[in-house]
Amino acid sequence: MKLSLKKDKIVIIDFGSQVTKLIARRIREYKVFSKILTQNDLKKKNIFNNVKGIILSGGPSTVVGKKFPTIPKEVFQLNIPILGICYGMQLIAKHFNGKVKSNIKKREFGRALLFKSKDSLLTKGFFNKNKCKVWMSHQDSVFHLPKGFTKIAFTKASTMTIIENKKKNIYGIQFHPEVTHTDNGNIIFKNFIFDICKANKEWKLDSEKVRIIKEIKNTVQKDSVICALSGGVDSSVVALLIHKAIGKKLKCIMVDTGLMRKDEFKSTYIIFKKKYKLNVKIIKASKTYFKKLKNVTDPEKKRKIIGNLFIKIFEKEAKKFKNVKFLAQGTLYPDIIESKSATGSKTSKIKSHHNVGGLPKKMNLKLIEPLKELFKDEVRVLGNSVGLIKSISRKHPFPGPGLAIRIVGNITKEKVKILQDADYIFIEELIKNKLYNKIWQAYAALLPVKTVGVMGDSRTYEYICLLRAVVSEDGMSADYFNFPKNFIDQISNKIVNGVKGINRVVYDITSKPPSTIELE
Ligand code: XMP
Repeated sequence: MKLSLKKDKIVIIDFGSQVTKLIARRIREYKVFSKILTQNDLKKKNIFNNVKGIILSGGPSTVVGKKFPTIPKEVFQLNIPILGICYGMQLIAKHFNGKVKSNIKKREFGRALLFKSKDSLLTKGFFNKNKCKVWMSHQDSVFHLPKGFTKIAFTKASTMTIIENKKKNIYGIQFHPEVTHTDNGNIIFKNFIFDICKANKEWKLDSEKVRIIKEIKNTVQKDSVICALSGGVDSSVVALLIHKAIGKKLKCIMVDTGLMRKDEFKSTYIIFKKKYKLNVKIIKASKTYFKKLKNVTDPEKKRKIIGNLFIKIFEKEAKKFKNVKFLAQGTLYPDIIESKSATGSKTSKIKSHHNVGGLPKKMNLKLIEPLKELFKDEVRVLGNSVGLIKSISRKHPFPGPGLAIRIVGNITKEKVKILQDADYIFIEELIKNKLYNKIWQAYAALLPVKTVGVMGDSRTYEYICLLRAVVSEDGMSADYFNFPKNFIDQISNKIVNGVKGINRVVYDITSKPPSTIELE
């Protein structure tokens, strides 16, 4: 699907920072469209059409050496305001003949106190009594001002922490305003996009919805589309959008792996079939899944088996539909960003997060990815505007391999049943206690260890249930959620009393990193 976006936009040139995505999100939160560009994108034509401002992200490189990633010189002459963050600032300094030095003794990681030295449009309303707590992550610093620039703020370790060239509308900041650890960081973006770039608030999800539906109609025409529906936020929104565009020409396939949350498969089917009147076909495959997963304990093997089996089943079923030329996928903007590397380097693989990604090449179907420009939060809002019920639009993320990666070790039907029951109690209680929407992702997992307990004077020897609840912005990093004590007491009680097979409940208090969100 072609996206012709004529609206005002801010582009972020990515130099490989872990948090570039957050810059794009902060800007969209102000209803201005933002897009992340890689070094390769810079070679394309008309890339700066309708661009009101350019942000140069941070990154792991250093301008101190001879070779470093940069932008074409001409970009500095476009008369488009530029804001450099961290590495981006150092790049600006280098370009305008400032001096950057790497100094291990003056490096700053974590919180730092920033002091104002001069007023600037960029920092209007940002300081509190001429100070502000900011988040730093650097070893290189600008130590000699580039030509035409003035100093706006400093910390103890870095003398030039904010710099500006008012005439050219070019700004540099050493800290990261995009992370929540920087106080008032959003004000920097607000000042930049509105007061400096004069961008208009033209990013509206309602008009996006209309545009997406129109584009689907134009693309599909008389043909049909298939879509794997899981009942998660992304596939549900995709299905409803396409249904709005082409009605019954959308065929949805639901594969019952037996590894979903308790009752979720059935309730999803009923919602989409009865409430939304979608064309849904169910494939009962749990027996095959359990057979293939028998005695498999390695997490990566589990993922591979589940993913490959899904592809096989889906492929077989898809062939049964006539006139299907398109495959719909719920690819999100972060998936697209993460699959491109800013600098060409490959990040190390932690887990093979499988999606339906591998399907189309083999099946000769064209892809439709209506959500590929959107962040998860935007998808939830879009979901509400196409009538998706709140219990789905607000649903926590759920991994493709389902409960298989939440049962450590080998998987049996009995263990899945135990886990489903425990997880059900946990999630229901979170909803009842109005905690569900405060948490980014919560679930119960089953540890493959049995321990001794005592119930009604008798000895028990049963599994440990691990509860996980995290707050996060994008799943890349996460903190555990701080439950009120009475809630955690009550939940342990309910699970041990209500689920046969569990006699101990533990709460996971590790953050990501060093842990991950899922256990496997
Ligand atoms: P981790 O465990 O890597 O998870 O911290 C980050 C986010 O990704 C989800 N996740 C998956 N999603 N297929 C998916 O579609 C997968 O195989 C998968 N593994 C993890 C996880 O639930 C969390 O939201």
